[in-house]
Amino acid sequence: MSNYHVEPAHRPQALSTQALKALRREPVEGMSRRQLLRLSLGAGMLLWLTEVTAGTIGFIWPALRSGFGAKIRIGTLDDVKLANANLPIAEGFPAYFSEARAFVVLVDPSRQEFLPGEDRTGEGTALNVRALYQRCPHLGCKPNPCQRNFWLECPCHGSRFDRLGIKAAGAQFGPAPRSMDRFAIEVDASGALTIDTSRITLGPLPIAVGQPGIIPPKSPTGCID
Ligand code: FES
Repeated sequence: MSNYHVEPAHRPQALSTQALKALRREPVEGMSRRQLLRLSLGAGMLLWLTEVTAGTIGFIWPALRSGFGAKIRIGTLDDVKLANANLPIAEGFPAYFSEARAFVVLVDPSRQEFLPGEDRTGEGTALNVRALYQRCPHLGCKPNPCQRNFWLECPCHGSRFDRLGIKAAGAQFGPAPRSMDRFAIEVDASGALTIDTSRITLGPLPIAVGQPGIIPPKSPTGCID
């Protein structure tokens, strides 16, 4: 037996340290791992920046285009009447303005005008007008004004509010825990109302029917069961 044997030509040979170093110095064809890593990092950063920018623009867009979240001019009481000619606005019935997501209500119908001034709490007595946020304080449905009793009634779970958004106390008047929320408002010298939909004040606690502070319904029955 002989110790002599022949290495096959196709068998891979181990690389020496020098050969490995030389290989590393050679330019890589295609994309190296380092380039791929940099590219992935760059793409990730770009994606993150795009998301942040889009989110910021989405957040401030309503204010930029004077939509909900900004100040919205409604106009004078005459403008409100004209826009709701089929409704008894002069008697204090709520007028709905979708662009402001608000009901506009004359506080004291014996005075047929909005009074100049500013009300950041939205209480509205001094300006003779109140702007109510359309969201029911229970779970957010939109109450509807009922012409039969002049109240606002929530179709979802039956909460009832007087025409100025005051919640009637008692389980029979629905589960909303408070009255409807109010927007800050201002009325200019010409009597034109502007609603600041970026500023909301929570409505007060419910009041029992018959007590001061809530307007009794015009009829014992309303528009919902
Ligand atoms: Fe209005 Fe429930 S959402 S009563």
